[in-house]
Amino acid sequence: MSAGIVQAAYIVSALFFILSLAGLSKQESAKAGNYYGIVGMAIALLATIFSPDSQGFGWIILAMIIGGSIGIHYAKKVEMTEMPELVAILHSFVGLAAVLVGYNSFIAAPESNTHAEHVIHLVEVFIGVFIGAITFTGSIVAFGKLRGVISSSPLNLPNKHKLNLAAVVISTLLLVYFVNQSGSTFALLLMTAIALAFGYHLVASIGGADMPVVVSMLNSYSGWAAAAAGFMLANDLLIVTGALVGSSGAILSYIMCKAMNRSFVSVIAGGFGQEVSVSSDQEQGEHRETSAEEVAEMLKNSKSVIITPGYGMAVAQAQYPVHEITEKLRSKGVDVRFGIHPVAGRLPGHMNVLLAEAKVPYDIVLEMEEINDDFTETDTVLVIGANDTVNPAAQDDPNSPIAGMPVLEVWNAQNVIAFKRSMNTGYAGVQNPLFFKDNTQMLFGDAKDSVDAIAKAL
Ligand code: TAP
Repeated sequence: MSAGIVQAAYIVSALFFILSLAGLSKQESAKAGNYYGIVGMAIALLATIFSPDSQGFGWIILAMIIGGSIGIHYAKKVEMTEMPELVAILHSFVGLAAVLVGYNSFIAAPESNTHAEHVIHLVEVFIGVFIGAITFTGSIVAFGKLRGVISSSPLNLPNKHKLNLAAVVISTLLLVYFVNQSGSTFALLLMTAIALAFGYHLVASIGGADMPVVVSMLNSYSGWAAAAAGFMLANDLLIVTGALVGSSGAILSYIMCKAMNRSFVSVIAGGFGQEVSVSSDQEQGEHRETSAEEVAEMLKNSKSVIITPGYGMAVAQAQYPVHEITEKLRSKGVDVRFGIHPVAGRLPGHMNVLLAEAKVPYDIVLEMEEINDDFTETDTVLVIGANDTVNPAAQDDPNSPIAGMPVLEVWNAQNVIAFKRSMNTGYAGVQNPLFFKDNTQMLFGDAKDSVDAIAKAL
C-alpha cells in the first residue's frame, strides 16, 4: 500500500470515528455508532498493517490473534455491572502503551534534521511518558476501587495537595534538564517514577461517589496519552483519534461534574478543596417493611407511579420484570414513568441501556431534571436498587460526603417503596435517611424476585 493510500485510509477512518461518536450520543443511533466505530477501526488496522513503514507482519498478526482472543473472551464474559472496571483496566493499557512507545522512541530516536526537531522529539517523549504513567497507575487504582479491592473512601495523606504540586513542579524541572542534556535517561526514569506515584495518589484521593467523574477523566487522559504516542510515531490517525477520545472524555467529565455539582478542577486535582467527613452511623430511627402483595395493591390504587432504578436493578437484572409491571399498570390506566439520575448505576447511561434492553419505551424514561418537580404529585415511587441517587442527605446534611450532589427528590411523593436486600449503604458508604421516613416502606429481597412477585400479584 502506498503512503498516499494509507493517508487517505486514515482520513476515512477518522471520519468513521467522528460518525461513531455522533451516533453514540443518542440511544436510537447508538447501535449504528458502534458499527461506524468497528468499520473505522478495521480500516485503520488494515492501513497500518499494510503501510510501507510496517515490518514484522507475522509478529503483528500473532499479537493481534492473542490480543483479539483475550478481548473477545472478556467482552463476552463481562457483566454489564463490571463494564466500568473493564473500561478502567483498558485505560491502563493505553497508558502503559504510551509509556512503552515513549521509551522506545527515546532509545531508537528517529533521525532529526535540525536542533529544533530534536528538541520537539524530546518534549514529545517526556510528555507522552508523563501522561501515560499517570493514566497507567490512576486507572489501576480506579479498577481496584470499582472492583472493591481498594477502599472507596478517599486517601487523605497529610499535605496531599502540596504533594501533587511538588510532583508537577519537579517533573517540569526534570523536563528542562532532560532537554538541556539532549536526553537524560536518569531524568526520564525519575520522572516516570514520580508520574506513576502521582497517578496513584490522584485517583486514590478521590472518594467513591466521585468515581464516575474519575473514570471519564481517565478516559480523557488515555486519549491524550494516545495522541502523545501518535506524535512520537508520526502517526496522524493516532493523533486525531487520541484527540477525539481526549476531548470527548473531558467534555463527559465536565457534564458529569455539573450533574453532580462538583467542581471540575477540584476533581481532576485529586479532590482538591473537598473536606470530606467520614459518615457517622448515627441513629436514624425505625424503618417499616412491606410485602410484594401490599405493594401490588398500592400500585393498583395509584394514578401516577415513578420508578427510579439504580445499581441494584442492574445487579439483580430486574429490568425485564420491571418492564412487565410497567406494561401491566399502563394497561390499567396508571401513568408510569421512570426517573433517571445521571450517575445511577456504575457507568454513564447504565439505566438507559438496561431499560432499552428490556424494551421500555424511551418516551416514559425521563432525566432527573425533567421529572424532579413531579414527585409531589406522584402517588407511588418505586426505588429499585437505588441508594445514593435518592439520598436526601445530599440536600440536608452539609457534612455528608455527597453534600451538594443533586438527587431525585423521591421523598416528596405520597408513598415510597425501597427495594433492596438489607439496610446496607450505597456506593458512597453513607446511610440514607430516606429509608427511615414515615412515607417510606422497605421491600427486602433481591430486586428481581421482588418485582417478579409484584408482577404475579398484579
Ligand atoms: P448505589 O448507591 O450504589 O446503591 C445500590 C443499592 O442497591 C445498594 O444500597 C444495595 O443495597 C442495592 N442492591 C444491590 N444489589 C441488589 C439486588 N440484587 N437486589 C436489590 N437491591 C440490591 O446505587 P445508585 O443509587 O445507582 O448510585 C450509584 C452510585 O455509584 C453513586 O454513588 C455514583 O456516584 C456511583 N458510581 C456511578 C458511576 C456511574 S458513571 N453511573 C460509576 C461509578 C460509581 P443492599 O446491599 O442492601 O441490597
